[in-house]
Amino acid sequence: MSKVTTSTLFKFKQEGKKFSALTAYDSSFASAFDQEGIDVLLVGDSLGMVIQGKKDTIPVSVEDVAYHVQCVSNSVERTLLIADMPFMSYATPEQTMENAATLMRAGASMVKLEGGHWLLESISMLTERGIPVCAHLGLTPQSVNVFGGFKIQGRDEENAKRILEEAKAVEKAGAQLLVLECIPANLAKTITEALTIPVIGIGAGKDTDGQILVMHDILGISSSYIPRFSKNYLAQTGEVREAVKAFITEVADGTFPADEHTFN
Ligand code: KIV
Repeated sequence: MSKVTTSTLFKFKQEGKKFSALTAYDSSFASAFDQEGIDVLLVGDSLGMVIQGKKDTIPVSVEDVAYHVQCVSNSVERTLLIADMPFMSYATPEQTMENAATLMRAGASMVKLEGGHWLLESISMLTERGIPVCAHLGLTPQSVNVFGGFKIQGRDEENAKRILEEAKAVEKAGAQLLVLECIPANLAKTITEALTIPVIGIGAGKDTDGQILVMHDILGISSSYIPRFSKNYLAQTGEVREAVKAFITEVADGTFPADEHTFN
């Protein structure tokens, strides 16, 4: 199987082939996910919650993410590996370059940043300097304290319009991938159709180009609760590799996400 790159994901979008992504934080799971055919792995700052047991992603550092990127990259052969830039590690363009370089040196092939208009300069600068960018809009968990909780975004017209505009702007600035988290399915569909770059959804309905879930959620072992937009595939299959295969199959054939995993 050939290595998944940003070009592969562009091709998938053009061909209408739905692709799958999972978070991963260690070598053993990453290796199994890679072997079973997951297209994208994200070392998410969700590690603050599922690995470190924190209540949100705010305490995660660049060193934390870099450590887990090293663990994962040691075992990944085919999958595109994305590293999350944690809270306040990209507050200024200079800081962004430095910290993104650290994550790329640790083994990532792309970095992910949460935000829209305020990030455009950093997105251009990273891309021009050889660091591919995945943007992240909608429920951006690093802004949980601004949102006043983990709340669905883009339900009102003004916010929906802003998210659509920001999606177009991050693409124009050079982002090569976009994650949309917890927004109404019709808004995610509009954005996916409006953009040339591939869009990955989590709690964003079935019409995005790809789907991403947190690995602990698909294995039903999250410390607190399994979010409504996720699905426990281990309960359905009884084996970790079978769970991953079932997720990949259901994303590819459009069975996941179903209406029960979707927000309106
Ligand atoms: O940190 C993370 O795991 C993420 C995904 C939920 C998209 O950002």
